[in-house]
Amino acid sequence: MAPSLAKSNTPIIFSLFLLSIIIAFPAAAQGDQPQETNFVVFFHITFKGPDNVTDVAVAGVPGEAWRHNAFGTIFVNDNYMTETMDRNSPKIGHGHGIYVVSTMDASSLLISESLWFTGGEYRDSTLELHGTSFLTLKYREIGVVAGTGKFRFVRGYATFETVLVDIIAGHATVRVNLTLLQ
Ligand SMILES: *[C@@H]1O[C@H](CO)[C@@H](O)[C@H](O)[C@H]1NC(C)=O
Ligand SMILES: *[C@@H]1O[C@H](CO)[C@@H](O)[C@H](O)[C@H]1NC(C)=O
Repeated sequence: MAPSLAKSNTPIIFSLFLLSIIIAFPAAAQGDQPQETNFVVFFHITFKGPDNVTDVAVAGVPGEAWRHNAFGTIFVNDNYMTETMDRNSPKIGHGHGIYVVSTMDASSLLISESLWFTGGEYRDSTLELHGTSFLTLKYREIGVVAGTGKFRFVRGYATFETVLVDIIAGHATVRVNLTLLQ
């Protein structure tokens, strides 16, 4: 009889153990829950003159044109960052970094971009974005992997959406929605 008794007690002990975890966990986690923050910034890109160009190809496959649709091309950017879509609104920082045309069909980029805040609420802080941008998507989502200043230990994600392209002026604007946990 003993073995069958031991067997029937196991589920009770196990569920008591589970219950104790369920009860203990919220108490332990209280006051220590990560807070979600959402905000939007805009990158203003100048891809041709007469204004200073903020997005340039710096390397690529030798003997081939260095373009957005050429595998292996590496770009550096230093875009003007604002809080509103108006490119003449006050600058709050730079969206700067590098990206590489990283799939052979040129349908995606590998991006490593830093948002460096020089004004506004997050002045002197940075957010580090890293990941794959699938160019065929309206909303390109990449990871927020780290930060400094007010963003220490942050994690989250960002969506990039091109909201304006002015071929004549050589300008483009990208809305960056940030969802952060900290
Ligand atoms: C272009 O860059 C130079 C050097 O940083 C700066 O002096 C000039 O004002 C810039 N021009 C425009 C139109 O932003
Ligand atoms: C980005 O944020 C704006 C403003 O809050 C919102 O209208 C838009 O739907 C958001 N886009 C995405 C992809 O979340």
